[in-house]
Amino acid sequence: MKIAGRTFVVSGGASGLGKACVEDIVKAGGHAAVLDMNTEQGESVVRELGSSTRFFVCDVSDTESIGAAVQGIVSWVRDTGKPLGGIIPAAGVGRPGLILDRNLNPLAIDAIDFVININLRGTLDLVRQVLPYLAQSPTDGPDGERGIIVMVASAAAFEGQMGQVAYAASKGAVASMTLPMARDLSRFGIRVVTIAPSMFDSAMTAVMSDKVKQGLKKAMEFPMRAGRPHEFSSLVKQAIENAMLNGVVIRLDGATRMPSKL
Ligand SMILES: NC(=O)c1ccc[n+]([C@@H]2O[C@H](COP(=O)([O-])OP(=O)(O)OC[C@H]3O[C@@H](n4cnc5c(N)ncnc54)[C@H](O)[C@@H]3O)[C@@H](O)[C@H]2O)c1
Repeated sequence: MKIAGRTFVVSGGASGLGKACVEDIVKAGGHAAVLDMNTEQGESVVRELGSSTRFFVCDVSDTESIGAAVQGIVSWVRDTGKPLGGIIPAAGVGRPGLILDRNLNPLAIDAIDFVININLRGTLDLVRQVLPYLAQSPTDGPDGERGIIVMVASAAAFEGQMGQVAYAASKGAVASMTLPMARDLSRFGIRVVTIAPSMFDSAMTAVMSDKVKQGLKKAMEFPMRAGRPHEFSSLVKQAIENAMLNGVVIRLDGATRMPSKL
């Protein structure tokens, strides 16, 4: 479907991969609702990109916070006349921790909840709350498309490394729900695609130590570098525009396969 003239909801849109999607959507003539917990960066994206974007402060692990943001988006869409075209739930966090450490302490349940609540529950809850409105958008093109959901998994969905049990669980679940969600939504003309990136440059990976980065580099085939946020968003753009992409998890990783240890 076309991006121009439609509004896309991007969580985690204030930084990294989500922000690159917001930039590309605006460049293609669309509107982007930027949902993020980081108000300072969210407002800065709107200052940078102008009135085709609107920031909604939102904690995706909090159902009411999503509900308030969705109401704001619905009224913004009503004002602009640019109907909803898709959801890109890109908000995500990592919090490494071994399931059992050398002192026999199991991973804290709070650490597990934190990651699952944002990466998995937050993704599902945002999708769930936007869908009733997306399903009422006017259709586009001869296929009668109403919209698309582009979710963000990770290489850790398939090759989680040591210390990534909670993160891998959250991302594996996102990958697993792609096909059933596509099946549920086909009657509405809504497609579902998930992208599973390897290491990409962003605030999330900027905090990794040089040792970890060098270790990850050894697992890379070609190109031997981290992905760039716009290499991610250009695949999101393709997913939006290519009607045959549906119910699929696409690895975006330059043939990297994560080893057990670095
Ligand atoms: N960068 C990578 O190497 C990489 C690889 C695979 C998958 N991913 C996934 O890509 C997505 C984007 O990550 P990124 O690398 O751009 O990281 P990032 O830290 O640059 O951006 C994540 C954004 O999510 C926001 N966020 C965090 N918790 C939130 C919450 N509870 N509610 C709303 N917003 C919240 C942050 O404020 C931030 O703006 C994540 O789901 C991440 O797991 C990233």
